[in-house]
Amino acid sequence: MYSITTPIYYVNADPHIGHYYSTLLADVIARWQRVKGKRVFFQTGTDEHGQKIEQAAKSKDKTPLELATEVSNSFKKTFLMAGFTFDRFIRTTEPKHKLLVQKLWTKLSKDDHIYLGKYSGHYNISDECFVAKGQVEERLDGYYCQTTGVKLIWQEEDNYLFRLSKFQSKLLQHYEENPNWIIPNSRQNEIIKFIQDGLEDLSISRSNCEWGIPVPDEAKKTNSTIYVWLDALTNYISGSWKDDSELFYNPDVWPAEVHVVGKDILKFHAIYWPAFLMAADIPLPKRIIAHGWWTKDGEKISKSTGNVFDPIQKSVEYSSDALRYYLLREASFGHDGDFVETRLQSKLNCDLADKLGNLVCRATGKRLLPDGTIQRKPSKEEYSESDKSLINEISKLVVHVDSCLTHQFDIQSAVISIWETIGTLNQYFAQQAPWRLKTQDVKRYQTIMYIILESVRILSILIEPIIPVAAARIQNIYQPILENPFDWGKLEEGIMLNIPENFVLFTKIA
Ligand code: MSP
Repeated sequence: MYSITTPIYYVNADPHIGHYYSTLLADVIARWQRVKGKRVFFQTGTDEHGQKIEQAAKSKDKTPLELATEVSNSFKKTFLMAGFTFDRFIRTTEPKHKLLVQKLWTKLSKDDHIYLGKYSGHYNISDECFVAKGQVEERLDGYYCQTTGVKLIWQEEDNYLFRLSKFQSKLLQHYEENPNWIIPNSRQNEIIKFIQDGLEDLSISRSNCEWGIPVPDEAKKTNSTIYVWLDALTNYISGSWKDDSELFYNPDVWPAEVHVVGKDILKFHAIYWPAFLMAADIPLPKRIIAHGWWTKDGEKISKSTGNVFDPIQKSVEYSSDALRYYLLREASFGHDGDFVETRLQSKLNCDLADKLGNLVCRATGKRLLPDGTIQRKPSKEEYSESDKSLINEISKLVVHVDSCLTHQFDIQSAVISIWETIGTLNQYFAQQAPWRLKTQDVKRYQTIMYIILESVRILSILIEPIIPVAAARIQNIYQPILENPFDWGKLEEGIMLNIPENFVLFTKIA
């Protein structure tokens, strides 16, 4: 089983393009594994406890659970409308999740990884974390976090602490043994440096927040709740956990193959999470992919800037494939991207409508294919040098796309290469001019049409994780090929293609 997760989303505000993007990346990877015939378990969900939600609910005159349920439903609806293919949507307010978090706490406590201490420091409610001294900036009206600019509050309380400092060398050893655990690799170096600078024990309970999972009774010396990050990270194992099992995870699904996270929450996933798992003798996930952030027209997306937009609205306006394509093509791997609507429009017009849409429509149109059948399957000996070079490019493309989506997770590179080959195919089409040969040299015309239609068939599978709606529409033209669909020559002579009337794949935006 190939198991992949997204972060779980805070329920203090409705989903926006950043949340959509994290889930989109996981969806692309999950879809590709399914294309390859793997069974996939894809989990997403919502992170519902903590001070941030408690405060947001208060300001809206709602109970935290009311707010959480409302916003969680909105996330689920958005992801369903987006066509994301998740198998499990977890909420951290589910009883089974709460039970596992408490069981995990009890185990950590029994094994002496937790102790009662005092904790004081500057707290960032928005990110739900204490901020290290070096990161705190004093201004006239208070203290601020240097990296995020968020105003901090002073918190001092009796807390339970997790002996994170004990895991410093084990974590470093893990990174040494797994040089590609974090992708992109530059982020792994940042994490290693952070660990090398020294880890302090981590406060994992809150006595000033009621909206959370209570610290289990047997350990209770203060009336506190479990730190929301320990609670939230546990979703990765609780989502598939069988509560009648001795184990803390479901071995069919865990360890996850990939956690997709934004760069802002890497530290929690790359330091705290593996340390908790090591302490509880639970295997670690196999890989973490950290993506960059989206701005809009050069500005941070935030309520205060007033530039938050609903991704579903954009996909209704331009099609869900266009939004997916734009996001995947625009941001280079692991780096930030800037959302500019006119760029989305030009990608839709140029790459999708002109390059791909026209190719498919011309190749399947009545002018070139009046009876809609594959008239003849050419023998290999008939292929010219330019035919061979195109076929060779396609077979190399299959290998490259697989490597990008399975190993490097460089989705942008996969997209760029696919569209380069679409470009090559368009050129081939123009150079070979099958419309001219149709009457002059029927045999050659049939060979060219076979090559074009077979190329389009293979390309339609390669684009499935990127633009699944268009991919399915192209694939519907052909009869399904179950075994080795990427192999050249699967299209058989005499096959009747199922070509819709007035077939238009993408409509241009004026
Ligand atoms: N609840 C935590 C995650 C817990 S995971 C065990 C959280 N939630 S979040 O809702 O604030 O963010 C979730 C994801 O959305 C993160 O991966 C974050 O990077 C992503 N994004 C939020 N805003 C974003 C952009 N503007 N651009 C890209 N992604 C960003 O953190």
